[in-house]
Amino acid sequence: MGILGHDGRASRAMDRCDVIAGYTTEPGRITRAYGTTALVHARDTISRWMDQAGLSTRVDAIGTLRGLYSVGPGSAPKLLIGSHIDSVRDAGPYDGVLGVMIAIAAIEGLWGSRHLPFPVEIVAFPDEEGLRFQTTYLGSAALAGAFDPAWLDLRDDDGVTLREAITQNGGDPVHLQNARLQPGEAFAYIEAHIEQGPRLQAAGLALGAVTAISGQTRVNVRFIGEAGHAGTVPMSMRHDPAPAAAEMVLAAETMARERPELLATVGRIVTEPGASNVIPASVTITLDVRHPLDDERSGAVETLHHLAVEHAQRRGLDLEWRVMRDHAATPCDPALTQVLQKAASVAVGTPVPALPSGAGHDAVTMAEAVPVGMMFVRCKDGISHNRAESVNVDDVAAAIHAMDGILDMLAEQARSKKRTAIRQQ
Ligand code: GLV
Ligand code: MN
Ligand code: MN
Repeated sequence: MGILGHDGRASRAMDRCDVIAGYTTEPGRITRAYGTTALVHARDTISRWMDQAGLSTRVDAIGTLRGLYSVGPGSAPKLLIGSHIDSVRDAGPYDGVLGVMIAIAAIEGLWGSRHLPFPVEIVAFPDEEGLRFQTTYLGSAALAGAFDPAWLDLRDDDGVTLREAITQNGGDPVHLQNARLQPGEAFAYIEAHIEQGPRLQAAGLALGAVTAISGQTRVNVRFIGEAGHAGTVPMSMRHDPAPAAAEMVLAAETMARERPELLATVGRIVTEPGASNVIPASVTITLDVRHPLDDERSGAVETLHHLAVEHAQRRGLDLEWRVMRDHAATPCDPALTQVLQKAASVAVGTPVPALPSGAGHDAVTMAEAVPVGMMFVRCKDGISHNRAESVNVDDVAAAIHAMDGILDMLAEQARSKKRTAIRQQ
């Protein structure tokens, strides 16, 4: 088998990420939003790999691909392992997809050698990024029973509702409750994901366990003014929303630079109608605010909201402030984190750290239903949400080896619990 985990599964997992990168709505870039043909075709391909791994597959009512490793009738609660298969615009190939490929590889590692006392379900979620509806975590929300029916009326840039997009995604918006976990159906959710930050590389380590995931607030901020002719409306008579939006971008940056650990990002700016010789009628900016502490995050969002109101009033504009998502910081389950950290340490041959995640993950929503644990895989220079995203095959091999170890440790825990229960009868 050579170096740890180098039994072909790591290079296969990476080759598969490359194949999935080919499913895109933008030639030359990786862009795979919820409900697009690219996402549905990527999911079909992953479904075939799950079939080959011996999983029984299905697509649930929101469009999450689920592959079940079954251990027979009347079996114990299942372990969920997963990540997401959608992407941001112009993404790298590993964000989300690698976690699903590591999960499949772990099932392939069971072939003919080991048996688990619990079923495992791999979940390939169709919307972690929120690229199309700015919502994030649609698949895991449906699974965890945290889906808000009000989201069904959200519209994408083309006016398509989420309700319609669920159908495009092969789901059924009327029966979303069918995707929901029943009480006691699963005992944990585990996710492997690239770190998307520089700490593991700086520590010279391939893997880490995650302690907690930072809170995150996403707001669509729209300044509404009055469209006009760029060559005739005097500056003193304008109700131009663009400078107000610009002031907000700078205010968010200044605030985040001044407050330790606060992160504020304006990732999208849309002017309407959007022509160089037209004073815009409206400008919408997206605001993404994160902090490991919830009070700090919500305090910052509140201050930014006040500033937006002030800028709008001063310039005679209307303001729409629409909170699209507001997630508290999510701790991972300490006992699971210990298992992940131990398995990862064995896989890399040296103790690995437990570190917080600044990026959001489906584990945030899954934590509403079951204990969650996450493992990070080093990525080159911490680069992610960028086509330059890169991981190396040795690190992926270590992650697969760690996932093997996690399964074995959880299996041993389940068997010893069962032995104790029998003794106590
Ligand atoms: C997901 O990648 C997020 O952190 O926004
Ligand atoms: Mn991402
Ligand atoms: Mn991700």
